[in-house]
This record gives sequence, C-alpha cells and structure tokens, in this order.
Amino acid sequence: MVVCKSPAEIEKMLGANELVADILETLAAMVAPGVTTADLDAEAEKLARAAGAAPAFKNYRGYPATLCTSINDQVVHGIPSAKSVLRDGDIVSIDMGVKMHGFYGDSAVTVPVGRVSESTTRLLEVTKASLEAGIAAVGVDGRVSDIGHAVQAYVEARGFSVVREFVGHGIGAALHEEPQVPNYGERGRGTRLRVGMVLAIEPMVNMGRPEVKVLRDGWTAVTKDGSLSAHFEHTVAVTADGPRILTVPRSRRGVTQAAL
Ligand code: MF3
Ligand code: CO
Repeated sequence: MVVCKSPAEIEKMLGANELVADILETLAAMVAPGVTTADLDAEAEKLARAAGAAPAFKNYRGYPATLCTSINDQVVHGIPSAKSVLRDGDIVSIDMGVKMHGFYGDSAVTVPVGRVSESTTRLLEVTKASLEAGIAAVGVDGRVSDIGHAVQAYVEARGFSVVREFVGHGIGAALHEEPQVPNYGERGRGTRLRVGMVLAIEPMVNMGRPEVKVLRDGWTAVTKDGSLSAHFEHTVAVTADGPRILTVPRSRRGVTQAAL
C-alpha cells in the first residue's frame, strides 16, 4: 500500500529531511585525507541527537551505525570504522537517515577526498545529474518507472552503468514504504504517481559493470569488477506543481531546484 501524505504531514517531514540535508552539508565539509568514517559517524549522531532526532539506520535490521559510508568501489551500506581512513583521491558516499516528529528523512551525497581524477569527477557529476533527471521525471499521473527510465537513460548515454540490486523507496512514518523506486526500466510501468507521495530516489552508478556483491560483513555492497561507484539520494514529495525536494539544506533554501 502506498501512503499519501497531507500537506501538513509533508511540512512535518520537512523537519527530518532538512535536518539530514544540513548534517550532510556539515559532514561533506569535514571530508579530508586522514579523517575516518567513524569520525563522520560520531559527528552525524551527535548533530542528529542535539536536534532532537534519532538515527534511522542504527539498529535497523541490526545495522550498527548512524551513517552508511561507502568508499570507492563500495556501492552502499559501508559501515563506518575508525580503521577506515579517507585518503587523497578517494570518493566517499555518505548516506544518512533520521526520525523526527514521527517521520523519516533520508539523503545521500558522494564527496571527493582531496584531489580526484577527471574521470572520477565525471562519475560524481553524472550520478548527481542522473538523480536530477529522475526527479525531473516525477509528474502527477506519471508512473514510478518514469523515474528509473530517466535515470538509466541519462547514465547509460554517458557510458556508466546503473546498479539494479538496490532501489529507492517510499518514505514517511516508516523508512521504507511502498513503492520501490528502481533506477532502471521502461517508462509508464508500476504505481501511478499521486499528489502526497513521498519518494527517496537514490541512483547508484558504477564506472564499470553494473553487478554488485555483498561482503562477508553482511552489509557492504561493492562492485564485482572493482570499479568506482557513486550514490546520491534526495527525498522528494509529489505536489500538484511537480516534484518538491525535501532534503535541501537550509543554507540553500530558495535556490532554484534546477540548481540543486
Ligand atoms: N538510504 C538507504 C536506504 O534507504 C540506507 C539504508 S541503510 C540501513 O535504504 F541500514 F538502514 F539499511
Ligand atoms: Co534511502
């Protein structure tokens, strides 16, 4: 069942989602060679709790941390660790969810560490732009697969590949609600988009082949071919005027959505 949210509920959801966006902005600014992913995780949890929110991923199906921090060929669900030290030239995906006032917020960014190669910069740009293309495909009376179709077309036209094993999701009073939001597929399939739906759209894009495998820790997903992978995520409400991104940091409020 897909739960549609009232305008008042969407305003409430904005609290959790803007908090996540603000914290991700702070964490992205902390990223530098020598910083560990445990440092990022500790800061994220501290900032969430100080704002009266609870980490959403911690203890979710036994997940042990506030963030997922996925470095280089790690696709998603990398577990923060004091042993994982960021190095110049790495990329790190930082994924965070919180619960506040009964609702969840969820967003992710992938950040370069120090100086990265041109091809790596391109992977980050294409992945971020593919999320924007997916969001732009959100229209009332469109279908959920229009999003994945737009993401896949954007990514593959630029020579990269889209991960199939993990998908975006509805979000609200639960972290994961229906519908699933794949990042690939044909247009015009699946659930119809309606005013009040809220979706976490989260393309994962690989520089090489699309296949992934999960490491023995039971969480960390890596590319099978060892190629780099990037991940960006926004939580987006379907409104009568089109998509509204809820995970915009307060510092960028009012900036036109096209520039996000
Ligand atoms: N953003 C991811 C998701 O929505 C992160 C989930 S990590 C988990 O699925 F630990 F909560 F599973
Ligand atoms: Co998510």
